[in-house]
Amino acid sequence: MKIGILSFRSLSRRASAEALALQKAVRAAGHRCQIFRAKRFQMVYDGHSPWLLYNGKPFKPADVMITRPSVLSNVELHVALIEQMELMGVKLFNSAESILKAKNKLKTMQILDHHNIPVPKTVVIHRGEDLKQAVKFVGGFPVIVKTPFGTFGKGVTIVESMRALKSFLIWNQPMYLIQEFVKHTRGKDIRIFVVGGKVVGTMMRSAKKGEFRSNIELGGVGEKVEITEEEVSTALRSVQALDLNYGGVDIMRGKGGVVVLEVNANPGFEELEKATGSDIAGAIIDYVVEYAGRHV
Ligand SMILES: Nc1ncnc2c1ncn2[C@@H]1O[C@H](COP(=O)(O)OP(=O)(O)OP(=O)(O)O)[C@@H](O)[C@H]1O
Ligand SMILES: [Mg+2]
Repeated sequence: MKIGILSFRSLSRRASAEALALQKAVRAAGHRCQIFRAKRFQMVYDGHSPWLLYNGKPFKPADVMITRPSVLSNVELHVALIEQMELMGVKLFNSAESILKAKNKLKTMQILDHHNIPVPKTVVIHRGEDLKQAVKFVGGFPVIVKTPFGTFGKGVTIVESMRALKSFLIWNQPMYLIQEFVKHTRGKDIRIFVVGGKVVGTMMRSAKKGEFRSNIELGGVGEKVEITEEEVSTALRSVQALDLNYGGVDIMRGKGGVVVLEVNANPGFEELEKATGSDIAGAIIDYVVEYAGRHV
């Protein structure tokens, strides 16, 4: 079988550690693998020509394409390539629609809350007049402010006072998420890696001194952690609610119980493998082969 990895990285950068690890795992499983770079595709519309060109030639789809949408802005535009493949009947691992839901923090809160999955109290505001009420609703200062799109902690800010909040919101975004600061976590959250309805890896991340965000990219440190049955089911339900085939669920153990911060449709796993010794790439490929086998 041929397994494709669809990487959205800029062509000036080499393929990610995750894409290379997946390629190695595919070959170790005895299958063929190709890393496709999204920027080398041309989408053609003239009613009869091949719809997709890759490096100028008609695109020959793999049996299944694992999507790695490392895009932060214009997500809808970038995801159009995945939608085109779906229209051509190509099998995708993480669909365009699921990626759009996961990349958009507002939509993620909407869907998780709709499925009664616990999230930090969050208010989406469109104007300054609603700030006072929103801050009160999420339990007062400090509050967390998030832009709808962001990653690696970019777009996540802690704000300690109304004065700071008013000066911080420059409204270059159509709306902001005002979110309860989950207390008593001492800057720790847990990344739960889910593949095909199963937890394949868990890592506790601790923020570095003076930082509240535990993202590895911001100096956070990962370590092995056991999670509860409730945390397992919360993570599985979250990935399912967003219709993802695989995802990285960020949870926090707040005073009121576990809450889900977000679900990543393009979760990294290099740090998770290092910190826990789990073979995440292998787990993904084992499932993808079985999954693709069911659909070929
Ligand atoms: N409501 C909150 N209360 C306390 N800490 C929070 C809250 N929301 C986020 N954080 C901290 O900020 C980090 C980044 O937040 P979040 O996961 O929502 O955004 P992100 O930048 O999209 O992350 P990723 O890189 O995982 O995509 C979290 O890992 C957590 O440490
Ligand atoms: Mg996160």
